Amino acid sequence: MNYALEVVGLKRHFDAGAGRTLHAVDGVSFGIRPGEILGLVGESGCGKSTLGRTIAGLYDKTEGKVLINGIPTPSAYSARDFRNFSRSLQMIFQDPYSALNPRMTVQDIIAEGPRLLGLWKKDETPVRVDFWLSRVGLSPEHKTRYPHEFSGGQRQRIGIARALALEPKILICDEPISALDVSVQAQVVNLFDDLRRTMNLAILFIAHDLSMVRYISDRMAVMYLGRIVESGPADSVYFDPQHPYTQLLIRSNPDPNPDNRDDLMVTPVGELASAVNLKSGCQFAPRCPLATEKCKTITPEPEEINSGRFDAHHIVACHVVAKQITKNSPQETGESTAHAFRRELAEKIEERSFQATP
Ligand SMILES: Nc1ncnc2c1ncn2[C@@H]1O[C@H](COP(=O)(O)OP(=O)(O)OP(=O)(O)O)[C@@H](O)[C@H]1O
Ligand SMILES: [Mg+2]
Repeated sequence: MNYALEVVGLKRHFDAGAGRTLHAVDGVSFGIRPGEILGLVGESGCGKSTLGRTIAGLYDKTEGKVLINGIPTPSAYSARDFRNFSRSLQMIFQDPYSALNPRMTVQDIIAEGPRLLGLWKKDETPVRVDFWLSRVGLSPEHKTRYPHEFSGGQRQRIGIARALALEPKILICDEPISALDVSVQAQVVNLFDDLRRTMNLAILFIAHDLSMVRYISDRMAVMYLGRIVESGPADSVYFDPQHPYTQLLIRSNPDPNPDNRDDLMVTPVGELASAVNLKSGCQFAPRCPLATEKCKTITPEPEEINSGRFDAHHIVACHVVAKQITKNSPQETGESTAHAFRRELAEKIEERSFQATP
């Protein structure tokens, strides 16, 4: 399969002092095809931004590989390497206020990268800037203005135009809509959707809002303490979550549409543990009502499962789900395996009367 971006066993650790190591990203693998959006969700602190930044070369990799169009990126970049690399991969950040230099005009902001890389001649700059401004839904008249003269949504569009002007193949978007008004969020999300279609961009879309991620993504990955615990087609993961953590996450972010809610969903238990000095075993085990001894000691490997209602590469790293899937086939129980599993999880939680975190 030809991936625009492929990540293999990627790790990024930080020194946490006193001989301890913080495993912010701890063995992540996935691929994104041209024109595809992969949504990445998970609680605050689980390592999403670190993953995005390590892929984008803003942090050195501790271990693992990042391949762009099949070509591995260097483990550390020289200034020249980084410039070439930044042509293929651009990052969009959450805060459209701090991301733009307040002393530069919109034209200079957008033209800075292409000029630095020698992609644009000076006399063609205004025409090209006009093109990219209109591409993101802004008017050419905006180019002589400064960032403070724009709204948050407009600034995010300027940031997107700046990234696109380099004609990248890959966009890493770290919470690109979280700082925007709800009314503007949908417009910016639709802009990303349009761009991936027309420019065949591969997009890693990091966000908190699960229903928004489901809406925009082709596939969705759920991260927990530095690892991806579940991934698959976005509808499959959203409507048929398998990993107990995914179920908790979806339950704690109710879908705006009541028809999409599942009353068998359960309530979150406990808080995200620390990623310092991670041991082997499932990292979610201390919070998981279904955890067994095996979960506490042996790290579950990602396994492909067929969740019943959906198919196609739904992958889960969970000992309990894997066992459940082989035990109950949908034909025997008359209900989907996923549904049976969710019911069991809900019952277990009730039995143990776990409390929701505030
Ligand atoms: N530069 C750094 N130095 C040391 N530790 C870091 C650094 N950046 C992140 N971390 C730690 O790595 C872990 C993952 O952080 P990260 O910012 O990647 O999480 P996140 O999933 O993006 O969270 P959020 O949803 O709040 O943005 C956290 O424990 C964080 O404290
Ligand atoms: Mg983050």
